[in-house]
Amino acid sequence: MARVTLENLAKWYGGQNVLDIVSIDVKEGEFLTLLGPSGCGKTTTLRMVAGFVSPDTGRVLFNGTDMTRTPTQKRRLGMVFQDYALFPHLNVADNVGFALRAAGMPKADISKRVRELLALIRLPAVGERFPSELSGGQQQRVAIARALAHTPAVLLMDEPLGALDLKLREAMQHELAVIQQKLGITTIYVTHDQEEALSLSNRIALMRRGKIEQLGTPREIYRNPATPFAAFFLGKINFVPGKLQEKQAGAYRISTSKGMLLCPTKDERKFSLGDQVLVAVRPEHLRIAEVASQNGSNVLPGRVVRQKFTGKVVQYEVRVDEMTSFIVDGTMDRSIESDAPVQVAWDVSATYLYPYEDDQEIGVGVASTEPQVVEVTGKHEANTLSESLAMT
Ligand SMILES: Nc1ncnc2c1ncn2[C@@H]1O[C@H](COP(=O)(O)OP(=O)(O)OP(=O)(O)O)[C@@H](O)[C@H]1O
Ligand SMILES: [Mg+2]
Repeated sequence: MARVTLENLAKWYGGQNVLDIVSIDVKEGEFLTLLGPSGCGKTTTLRMVAGFVSPDTGRVLFNGTDMTRTPTQKRRLGMVFQDYALFPHLNVADNVGFALRAAGMPKADISKRVRELLALIRLPAVGERFPSELSGGQQQRVAIARALAHTPAVLLMDEPLGALDLKLREAMQHELAVIQQKLGITTIYVTHDQEEALSLSNRIALMRRGKIEQLGTPREIYRNPATPFAAFFLGKINFVPGKLQEKQAGAYRISTSKGMLLCPTKDERKFSLGDQVLVAVRPEHLRIAEVASQNGSNVLPGRVVRQKFTGKVVQYEVRVDEMTSFIVDGTMDRSIESDAPVQVAWDVSATYLYPYEDDQEIGVGVASTEPQVVEVTGKHEANTLSESLAMT
């Protein structure tokens, strides 16, 4: 087991800065996931840990020892990459034992180790088969066994489950988690699948454009996304642009095109009056309300423009104004007609607040470069605010 330190890693390709000062301390035995959209630098980072790519600046350390210039084969790594296929001309046992043979381990010891590994991946009887005689998921499990054969200090996996169908992927996620916990090998895992990252990782490094956007446990990032992008990429989120009007006992009051919203001031972030902001709330915190006013809630009027049956919930798309639609997770026990006027409500405590960003990637500012905010007048408040908002 090893502690892996990525220290100020940067990389340029043809004038493009693809990694921009990435620093992560991966603890011994930790399962750390690099998560982020295509092209954000996940594979490049992993390849630096592997020694396939050398950083332009920065260092890679294992247990405090600088490994930046150490060749791959001397780093004691196990690797499972999406395109890192099994050797087709070798049977499963020979694939799994490959590194051990190369290291000169006696035959009897190799057989014993291979048997242990095939038991670990729960494929004890396939040793004689060739890769082409296995399913995709079985092949991937064999690839994991092969990566573990020489008891690596660090396990690197790049989208190892990317090619599998949903059910198999879920089953394999579970297997991976069990194996990693059992062996306690420091693991750096790359995926762009947020659910995979949430369910497998001790911590997630959320990357964007060659930088770490947020580093934390799945719960920390999900519950407390540091930026609109973090909120958008991990889970689902609705944004409403607005303007900070007032700060009072524990809450900011924010004017939006459709009324006033409250947001708790628990956030350490400093906002000033007049700031353009993004109010954000997750679909699971929203409800479609019968009445306009509810204590302790934010309420926005809208119309149901679409509904999608997903099996678990009905997702309603509620149009709040020309620029803003809300996705609401609804229950199936009542039906709401399309185009019906509704109120979208949520607890003030479930509201996030960010400085305004005009960012098409997260679905903000597509229709306009200016947030549509309405200056608050006494009349506006009286008409559109719920009692709770008006009274606090
Ligand atoms: N050898 C290379 N030469 C030039 N550009 C490269 C090279 N390798 C990567 N890049 C660029 O660096 C950026 C980051 O690539 P990287 O493979 O790390 O992304 P990623 O996060 O793994 O994306 P994906 O989810 O699509 O695999 C991309 O813009 C890519 O085009
Ligand atoms: Mg990649």
